[in-house]
Formats: sequence, C-alpha cells, structure tokens
Amino acid sequence: MGKKAFITGITGQDGSYLTEHLLDLGYEVYGFARRNSVTEHQQTRIENLMNNVDLTYGDMLDQSSIDKLLKRVNPDEIYNLAAQSHVRISFDVPQFTVQTNALGVLNLLESVKINAPNAKIYQASSSEMFGNSRDADNMQRETTPMHPVSPYGCAKLFSYSLIRNYRKAFKLFASNGILFNHESPRRGANFVTTKIIKNAVLISKGKINTLELGNLDSKRDWGHSKDYVRAMRLILNHTEPDDFVISTGETKSIRDLCKIVFSKLNLNYEDHVKINPKYVRPDELSYLCGDCSKSKKILGWKPKYSFEELVDEMLEYFLEKYKD
Ligand code: NAP
Ligand code: GDD
Repeated sequence: MGKKAFITGITGQDGSYLTEHLLDLGYEVYGFARRNSVTEHQQTRIENLMNNVDLTYGDMLDQSSIDKLLKRVNPDEIYNLAAQSHVRISFDVPQFTVQTNALGVLNLLESVKINAPNAKIYQASSSEMFGNSRDADNMQRETTPMHPVSPYGCAKLFSYSLIRNYRKAFKLFASNGILFNHESPRRGANFVTTKIIKNAVLISKGKINTLELGNLDSKRDWGHSKDYVRAMRLILNHTEPDDFVISTGETKSIRDLCKIVFSKLNLNYEDHVKINPKYVRPDELSYLCGDCSKSKKILGWKPKYSFEELVDEMLEYFLEKYKD
C-alpha cells in the first residue's frame, strides 16, 4: 500500500499540483475543502482528480475537523498549504489571515502531537518572511534575517518559528519550505503574473484597453508551481527535518514582466498599463532573489522550468481560453 498524505489547501494552486504529483507516485491523498456557497468553485482546480482523492469538509480554524481527519487517516505525511495567501489582502483581513496562517498551524501541530505523532509535517513558509532583508550578495537564503512587512509575512514567520520549536521540543518531524513566488496557469487571478498575462491577452484581442497595477518597481524571483511541489515532497523525504529555500536565483521587476508579456503579443505595455494607488501596498517587499544552494546540494532539487517557459505556458493557457 502507498503512503498516505494529508494536504490542507488541496483546492489551491499548489495543492492541486501536489495532489497530481503524489498520486503519480502511488500515494493515497486526503484533503480538506472549505464550505463555499458555490460548491463547484471549491473544486475547480482538482475537478479531474475527484475520483482519486478523499476530500472532506474542514477548516484550519476548526480544530475538531483536523482531529477527526488525523484520527481516521493517521497519515504518513502532512502538507500544510492552507492559507489566506494574498499579501495585499492580508492588510484588508489581517485577523482572518493571522488566525488561518498562524493559529491554524498551531491547531495542526497540537493535533498531530496527540493524534499522529509519527506523521511528517511540511509547512508552506514563504520568502515574504524576509521582508526587505537581504545578504551582502543581494540574495536571501536560510540564514538571512527575517523582518516581514505584511500581516501575511508576520503570520508566516510565527508558523515558521512554531515548526522549528515543535521539532526541537516535541521531536516532531516538522520542516519548513521557504518558497519564493511560484506561478502557473492555475495561479489565482489577483496575483500579479496572472493579472498581467490574462489582461494583456484580453487587450490583444481588443476586449479591454487598460490594465491597472500598483508598484511596477518591486522585483520577484518567479518559478513554476510544478517544480516547487516536487521540492515539498523531497523536503519531507529527507532523512531529517530541516528548513530549505526553494527559488530560481533570478529576479525581475513587475515592469520587466509587463514588457516581456506585452511584447510577446506585439504590444507596448506603456500604451495600456496605468497605475492605480489602490493596488499599492501600505508597506512593500521590494526585492526577492533566493539562493537555493542548500536544496540543490542536500535534496538534489533544481527547477526544470525557465522563466520564459513559465510565461509562455501561462500565455498559451489564456490565449486558448479567450480564443473566441
Ligand atoms: P492558494 O492557491 O491561495 O491556495 C490556498 C489554499 O488554502 C486554498 O485551498 C484555500 O481554500 C485554503 N484555505 C484558505 N484558508 C483556509 C482555512 N481557514 N482552512 C482551510 N483551508 C484554507 O495558494 P498557493 O499559491 O497554492 O500556496 C499554497 C501555500 O504556499 C500557501 O500557504 C501560501 O501562503 C504558501 N506560499 C505560496 C507561494 C506562492 O508563490 N504561490 C510562495 C510561498 C508560500 P479555498 O479554495 O477555500 O480558498
Ligand atoms: N497582486 C498584485 N496586483 N500585485 C501587484 C500589482 C497588482 O495589481 N501591481 C503591482 N504588484 C506587485 C506587488 O506590489 C508585489 O510587489 C508584486 O507585484 C507581487 O505581488 P503578488 O503577485 O501579489 O505576490 P506577492 O509577492 O505579494 O506574494 C506571493 O509570493 C509570496 C512569496 O514571496 C504570494 O504567493 C504569497 O502567498 C507568497 O508567500
């Protein structure tokens, strides 16, 4: 019998790719879905997998739902991907963000301690935890100080610390993946990559004329979600629990991304992109570029997708979607 994996956040971008990856490797996959008034919306990303996963209603804020699942399944591996994952929105709903992204992780760890102490736990930590901190070589790595600049980043830093604390204090196999931005055609519509690529395609088809954005000068290290979910499994299958940066080591500004995407569609971004202060954040993380040497050396992980291939895949997806 294959290993049993419990994925929180299975309905999200990473949850859907991780499910496919683990099913391919022969895992049994269990997941939580939250109740949504339009049920179909909940399952869009995993529609094709519904016959192969065990999906139950659950919420990181409802400890009883976590307890029930862990008692019933006793998983070998737990991937905690559930989060309010939008940084800008964490300024609008800071309490919900902190409850889910921080206290939700505490709920999970307390439940694991009692109900499944031998399960290995992966925590979806984030490069947003670094804030505007970087090393002398302009990169962030496992040892770079963390000074988050958003409620989202603060909550993720709490959880990151808790994972390390429970690892040491209670000898849980609990690991952090410190993942830099990763995207795909399944990325939510209000993250900047999807927002730019989808709307540039609509502009190229004459359906709209303008794209409103916030800060064009921040820089991000963008990879592909498919590569990053492979890293999650490698992290949990390493001999000991530890913390790992997953990144590409390349960085580009939002302006660069606009230029590249619009020019692929034979457009000039300056004719269409307008700044709307509504999308500028109260505080901003201005620069990310991750050094993943540790993961390369210890896990043997490296990304397969280039930035160009990522952009092309997302472009092709939206060109096909809006072809008529
Ligand atoms: P996503 O697409 O927004 O997925 C988040 C998932 O969490 C969704 O399934 C969502 O369910 C679920 N969720 C939200 N609140 C919940 C709650 N209270 N209880 C149970 N489930 C809840 O995010 P993603 O891009 O896949 O990212 C996965 C994880 O990695 C997140 O923790 C994110 O913070 C972290 N991360 C992402 C990146 C990145 O660049 N993508 C980088 C570093 C870290 P609904 O469908 O009901 O909303
Ligand atoms: N979303 C958005 N919308 N971002 C914009 C816009 C806009 O209209 N205009 C400019 N930006 C800038 C943001 O200010 C930010 O500097 C950058 O684009 C990237 O924004 P997002 O795509 O929303 O991602 P993020 O970097 O804030 O957060 C993502 O990456 C984190 C890892 O570093 C999310 O996936 C987080 O969950 C993840 O932890």
